[in-house]
Amino acid sequence: MTRSGPPALGTPTSDQVADFYDYLGPLLSMVWDENFHFGYWEGPDDQVSVAQPTDRLTDVLVEELDARPHHRVLDLGCGAGKPAFRLARTTGATVVGISINCAQVAEANARAAEEGLQDQLIFQWSTRWTYRSRTRRSTGCSRSNR
Ligand SMILES: C[S@@+](CC[C@H](N)C(=O)[O-])C[C@H]1O[C@@H](n2cnc3c(N)ncnc32)[C@H](O)[C@@H]1O
Repeated sequence: MTRSGPPALGTPTSDQVADFYDYLGPLLSMVWDENFHFGYWEGPDDQVSVAQPTDRLTDVLVEELDARPHHRVLDLGCGAGKPAFRLARTTGATVVGISINCAQVAEANARAAEEGLQDQLIFQWSTRWTYRSRTRRSTGCSRSNR
């Protein structure tokens, strides 16, 4: 007799990770925030909405990073770019954000262009394994090259 049970949880493939954000990214933005990370609440009485504590956590990291205007920071797994924008604005550094999800990269680049920050904020489709330092926006963003 063979044992049945839940399928083993393995490491997701790159496509699965990218798909996850295609399906759930918009929902996450709606119910959580465009900061796709934890928040820093100051205590049980801190009842502010998610945007503020998640920005606070970004600020803690930005402070630790101590980036300067002549620095170029790599944001590995940049999501929709909200933390990268905050970092760029606060420090004056250039930020290169990479994500495995095409839609996030397109959205973040569009926002950078809208805000006139396209020289300071560059988002590229890449995986953490394939990233090679470039300052140009890459246009490769299709399933076949994920
Ligand atoms: C939890 S979200 C964090 C997004 C962003 N750092 C933030 O705090 O809002 C994880 C991000 O990492 C990206 N990601 C996951 N695995 C990746 C990989 N192997 N290479 C590149 N990006 C990846 C996802 O597409 C997503 O943008």
